[in-house]
Amino acid sequence: MSFRIYNQTIVVLNSTKAVHDLLNNRSQLYSDRPRSWMLHDLCGRRNTVFNIPATDERHRQYRALLRTGINQRATLSYAPLLESELIDFVQRLEDSPASYQGHIRRNAAAVIMRVAYGYTISGQDDFFVRTAEEASQISGRAMAPGRWLVNYFPLLRFVPSWFPGAGFQRQAVIWRKELDALSGTPHKWVRDQMAAGTDKDCFTTRLLRPSNGKIVTANEEDIIKWASGGLYAGAADTTFSALTSFVLLMAVHPDVQERARSEIIEIDGVSQLPSVSDLPKFVYLAAVLKEVLRSAPVAPLALPHQVIEGDLYEGYSIPKHATVMANVWSIMHDEQMYPDPYSFDPTRFIADDTGNAVQPDPRAYAFGFGRRGCPGSHFAETSMLLIMAGTLSRFKISPSVKETAGGLPPLEYTSGLTSHIKPFDIDIVPLK
Ligand code: HEM
Repeated sequence: MSFRIYNQTIVVLNSTKAVHDLLNNRSQLYSDRPRSWMLHDLCGRRNTVFNIPATDERHRQYRALLRTGINQRATLSYAPLLESELIDFVQRLEDSPASYQGHIRRNAAAVIMRVAYGYTISGQDDFFVRTAEEASQISGRAMAPGRWLVNYFPLLRFVPSWFPGAGFQRQAVIWRKELDALSGTPHKWVRDQMAAGTDKDCFTTRLLRPSNGKIVTANEEDIIKWASGGLYAGAADTTFSALTSFVLLMAVHPDVQERARSEIIEIDGVSQLPSVSDLPKFVYLAAVLKEVLRSAPVAPLALPHQVIEGDLYEGYSIPKHATVMANVWSIMHDEQMYPDPYSFDPTRFIADDTGNAVQPDPRAYAFGFGRRGCPGSHFAETSMLLIMAGTLSRFKISPSVKETAGGLPPLEYTSGLTSHIKPFDIDIVPLK
C-alpha cells in the first residue's frame, strides 16, 4: 500500500516476497534513507551510520569497520566482558527483582559502552549514558513525522532564522550545538585515556591503534568516531526491547521456561553461570530467542529505506525518492509462514522426527534488509542469549498473583521505532 504525507510518498511492503524482491534483491536502489532536512542537514546529523545515504562512500567505510569490529569472531573476543556484565546483572536482579527493566537497560548500556569505548558506566545516572540518551531524544524530536515543514518543503531551509515563522531554524541551531557536543564526548574521552595510557581494549582503540601499526589519518579517525557512535544507538533500545519481551513471555509460558531451564542446567549444572562458549549448545534457547524476535518484533517496521530512482514492480510504479518501509510485524504474523502465529511456540524452529519442515528463520526479517541490514546482529544474539541463559539458570519468572487473579490479560505492545510487550506485574524469584 502507499500513502502521502504532504508531497512525500510512503510505500509499505506487507509481503515477504515484496520485501525480499525490492529491499534485498534490488538493494543497490533501495538502501538510502529518507532525508530529514531538519535532522540531517540543519542539525548536522547526516553523517551518522543510520542516516548517511548508502550512495555515500562513507556508508561503505562505516559498514566495513562495523563488519570487522562486531562480527561473530570479534563478538567472541568480548566474551570476558559479556560474562562479567552477566554476573553484575544477576546480582542486581537478585537484590531488586522488581526493577528488572532498569537492570536490563543498564546491562545493555554497560555492555555496549565497554565494547565501543572501553568505558565502564557508573550508576543509573551515568554521564555518558545520559549523553547518548539525550542525543537520541533530540534526534527523535527532530525527525517526528509531520512536525517540521522543512522536511517536506526543503526550500524553507534558506529562510533566515530571524524571519517570522522560522522558529525551526532557531531550534536547529540549539540542537546542532548540543548534538555536536554530545557525539564528540565519548570519542574524546577514549583519546584522553590513550594519551594517559589508561585506555581499555575496545572497538575504538582497536581501530585507532591498528595491529599493523598504520598511522590513522584525521579523516579515518572521523569515520571511526561516527562508526563507534552507531553502536550505542543501535544496541541500547533494541536489546532492551527484546529482553523485556523475553522476560514477560517467560512469565506467561511456564512450560517453555521450564524446558529452556532444563537444557541450561543439563549443560551447565546448577552452580555455575552459563558462558559464551556454552551458547552454541543451547538448541532450545536459541529457538526461544527466534520466537521472541518473531512474536514481539523489536523493530515492527524496521527502519525506513528510500529508493534512489523511480522503479517498476509487479505493475506498480514506485516514484524516485519514495520512502519504502517493510511491515515486519505483518511478515512475522503471516499464517502462511507461521501457522497459528499468535501462539508462542519455539518448537517451530526445531526439526522433529515427524518430518515437519522448520518454519522460516525470523532473523532474516528482524534485523532489516539489503545494505542497511543490522551490522550488530551477531553481537546482539550472543549478548541476549547469555542474559537469557543466565536469568533462567538463576530465577523463576511468573505473573504476580494480582495479575493471575482474573485470568491473564492479553499481551499488548508499545508503539514506536522499537517496540516491546507492555509490562505487567511479574515475580522474579531466585531458584532454591
Ligand atoms: C535485538 C537486537 C537488534 C535488532 C532487532 C536490530 C534491528 C535493526 C534493524 C531493523 C535495523 C535497520 C535495518 C534496515 O534499515 O533495513 C538495524 C540497523 C542497525 N543496527 Fe541493529 N538491531 C539490534 C541490535 C543491534 C546491536 C547490538 C548493534 C550494535 C552493536 C546494532 C547496530 C546497528 C546499526 C549501526 C544499524 C544501522 C545500519 C545502517 O543504517 O547501515 N544493532 N538494526
